[in-house]
Formats: sequence, structure tokens, C-alpha cells
Amino acid sequence: MKTTVSVIKADIGSVSGHCVAHPDLMDICDEVLAEALETNILTDYYISRCGDDIDLIMTHRNGEENEEVHETAYNAFMKATERARELKLYGAGQDLLSDTFSGNIKGMGPGVAEMEFKERPSDPVLVYCCDKTEPGAFNLPIFKMFADPFNTAGLVIDPSLHDGFKFEVFDVIEHRKVILNCPEEMYDLLALIGSTGRYVIKRVWKKNGEIAAAISTERLNLMAGEYVGKDDPAAIVRAQSGFPANGECVEPFAFPHMVSGWMRGSHNGPMMPVSERDANPIRFDGPPRVIGLGFQVSDAKLIGPVDLFDDPAFDPTREESARIATYIRRHGPFEPHRLPAEEMEYTSLPGVMAKLEDRFEDME
Ligand code: 13P
Ligand code: 13P
Ligand code: MG
Ligand code: MG
Ligand code: MG
Ligand code: MG
Repeated sequence: MKTTVSVIKADIGSVSGHCVAHPDLMDICDEVLAEALETNILTDYYISRCGDDIDLIMTHRNGEENEEVHETAYNAFMKATERARELKLYGAGQDLLSDTFSGNIKGMGPGVAEMEFKERPSDPVLVYCCDKTEPGAFNLPIFKMFADPFNTAGLVIDPSLHDGFKFEVFDVIEHRKVILNCPEEMYDLLALIGSTGRYVIKRVWKKNGEIAAAISTERLNLMAGEYVGKDDPAAIVRAQSGFPANGECVEPFAFPHMVSGWMRGSHNGPMMPVSERDANPIRFDGPPRVIGLGFQVSDAKLIGPVDLFDDPAFDPTREESARIATYIRRHGPFEPHRLPAEEMEYTSLPGVMAKLEDRFEDME
């Protein structure tokens, strides 16, 4: 019998501004998911949040894209949105683009990462949840986990990893996808995924087809046709015994890499790995955060989690991230802190250009 891990996430309102999902919303999601346990739609679940985004981590036997599982998540978010509206929370219902469920939550606003697998004798599964960034923020750490031998020693010294991995990359602008093999096509892969706003790693498999990682890639503004949030992503990663070790899966986050999505979804800033309790993006609405939760999946139950970045060994990363935040903030409205115009979401540029249009003159 196979097990499915589904992570479905949404920002449905926060206190204060875009900072933290209100505990009432988490409680309401808990009630809805508890009902789904009783009716055997789910086998287990854990609810977390990173900043203003609620992450429903669910296990079940129903496979990916299951209508009942997706509807459960949708109902949880809809019900919690009612409370968010009562409390006049900020951005109540922000990530819900439709108020009727139509069979699959994809395309309706929430982000989805799912994987189905046959459990190994022991199956460590890690879940990462972000705020104030975009799906492409996972490109660098996922690449390092599954393709960089300077990060993942196992690629060199563990025969069960030595073959490398396959990467599925989505072109989120042209709605196309491509699968690339590593290490054979590593430079081609990097040529794409270095463009984090366009090419996004969706899945990673072992060469034998076994699923290794899945990432939510929904870009809300592209779906909605306007700015409605920055698609703060989540990822699921399997570790140990043929996959990178847990330690190799958290190691990429020791580097506070630059990501897009800070302040109004329109600024670059350093990723800061934090514990669940520190997932409160406050300074300039950030800097961007990632939390990590380490589970053992056992007969489709979630054992754990361990709060993966609740480790003083990540303190220097957090300090470096805060220092980089100070440095890049001093650029104010200038690139590369501010995103290039085409990536800006709260852009005032079209209005400014319209106002100045008559005053522009042709040059010689
Ligand atoms: P164990 O020997 O405890 O399984 O550890 C192996 C390992 O993967 C350490 O990174
Ligand atoms: P969220 O995408 O987390 O809602 O943040 C939006 C924003 O504009 C923060 O400055
Ligand atoms: Mg928000
Ligand atoms: Mg958010
Ligand atoms: Mg967002
Ligand atoms: Mg040991």
C-alpha cells in the first residue's frame, strides 16, 4: 500500500499586516482536518505556519490530486477565512481565488506539493515552508541537495546516490516543462534554474523513478492576472537510505541565498532559516523565511516533527542574513534590492509612465 504526503498551503489572513497567521485560523483548520481523519480521508496531519502562510501537512492513502483531500484543504481555508473576515485580519482570504471548489485545488490559489511512495522500512520526510518569497527560492537549495557534491557527500561516497537524480523543471511563463538528468545535464539544468522567476524545479526523482522531492510552483499573480501575494512556497523532501541524509538536506540553508518576494513582493533579500516560533517576518515585512520540519512517515502517520532550524549551528546563518538585510536595504528603491520592473507586483511604474508620457521627447 502506498502513502501520499500532501502539503497544501495558503495565506488567508494575518495579524498584523502580512506578519502572522492568527491562531484561530490554525484552530479552525485543525477542526476541519480532524473531521477528515474521522471519515478516513486523511491518515494523519500536522498544521504549521511560516509568517502569514498556513501549511497543512497531510498523509493519506488516496494518491496525488485526490478530490476529497484537496476539498478538505479548501474547506479548511474557506472556513478559516470566515473567521479572518470577522477579525478583519489583513488579507482575509488573500490566496483563495475562487469561492467554489471544482475538483482540484490547483489553480484556485493555494500552493500544492504532493508525493506518493511506497514506504521504506524507515522513511524520513522533510517539509520546508517559506514566507515572503516565490517558488524559485527552492531552486538553489534543492539543486544543492540532489546535485552538488560539495553539499551532499553521499553523491560521491554512497553507491545508492552515485547515479544522481532527475529534475523536472516548469517554465511558469510559457507553461511548459522539461526533465533533465544530473550530473549528465547539470550545466543545462543550471542554465534554466538560475532564472528563478521563470524556471522552477517541480519534482526530483531517483534515476529509477522513485520520488525524492516535490515543490509547490503555483504563481498566484500569473493565475489571477494581478498582484495577490507572492506564492510563498512549500517543499517535501525524502531523506536517508538512497536519498541525501537529513543533514545534507538542511545544509543548503546554511547559506542565506538571495530570493525575490520581500516587501510588497517586490524586493530581493536574503533567506533566513528559522525555527517555527521565529517564523515572524517583521523587519521590512521580512527578511524572507524558511522553516524545516523533520518527520518519520510510518504507516502513513507523521512521527515528529523535529524543528530542523531550531539549532544554534544556524545562528551564524541568521546573523549573516540580518547583516545582508541591512546592506541590501540601503539600496532603497534601487535594483538589485527592488526587483526589475517586470517582476514588480505593486508597481507604480505604469502610472508614472502614463503621467510622464507627454513630457518624453525623442533624442537626436
Ligand atoms: P546512521 O549511521 O546513524 O544511519 O547515520 C548515517 C548518516 O546518514 C549520517 O549522515
Ligand atoms: P505575503 O505574500 O506574505 O502576503 O506578503 C505580501 C506583502 O506585500 C508583504 O510586504
Ligand atoms: Mg499576506
Ligand atoms: Mg506570505
Ligand atoms: Mg504570499
Ligand atoms: Mg546514527
